[in-house]
Amino acid sequence: PRPILLTRHGESRDNVRGRIGGDSGVSDTGEIYAKKLANFVEKRLKNERAASIWTSTLQRTIMTAGSIVGFPKIQWRALDEINAGVCDGMTYEEIKKNMPEESRKKDKLRYRYPRGESYLDVIQRLEPVIIELERQRAPVVVISHQAVLRALYAYFADRPLKEIPHIEMPLHTIIEIQMGVTGVQEKRYKLMD
Ligand code: G3H
Repeated sequence: PRPILLTRHGESRDNVRGRIGGDSGVSDTGEIYAKKLANFVEKRLKNERAASIWTSTLQRTIMTAGSIVGFPKIQWRALDEINAGVCDGMTYEEIKKNMPEESRKKDKLRYRYPRGESYLDVIQRLEPVIIELERQRAPVVVISHQAVLRALYAYFADRPLKEIPHIEMPLHTIIEIQMGVTGVQEKRYKLMD
C-alpha cells in the first residue's frame, strides 16, 4: 500500500506575527522544519522512484518543499489556503475589531469570508486533488495549509463534515495515511515543536 504524507508548511513569517493568509516565506524555524522534512522524506521514500511532492502555489509551501531532492514537485492552486477575502493579512484580533457583526464561530463550516471562501468552498475545490490522489499508485507528499489539510484529512480518515473546521492540524508534524484493503491506517511523526 502506498502512503500519503500530509503536512503543513513550516512556520511562516506571518504565523510568527499571528497574521492569516498572505504569502510570506518561512521563518528560521520553518526553514529548520524544511530540512528535517527533506531528511524524513528522503529516508521514508528511498526506493519509491515514482513518488511526488505536491505543494500549493504559495511561498511557504514551496519553500518547505525546497530542501527535498530527487522527486518531482507539482504546484496546485487547489491546495492554496482558504481565501480569507477582506480579512487576508489580518490577525484574529483585528478581524474581531473590524467585523464585529460577523460571527464565524456560529457556523465555521459555512461561514464565507467577504470576498473569500468558506470551508465548504475549500472542500469543493479540493475534489480534483482528491480524484488525482486516489488515482496515484505511488506515494505522494502533500505540503499545504491548515484549513485545506483539515478537509483532506477528513476525507481520508472518514471524519464528519461538521468536524472539519475544528480538526487539530499542528505545525511541524507529518500525518502518514496508508490505504489498505482493511481500511485506513494513520501514523504521526512530530519532527519538532
Ligand atoms: O489562515 C487560515 C488558517 O490557517 C485557517 O484556520 O480556519 O481555524 O481560522 P481557521
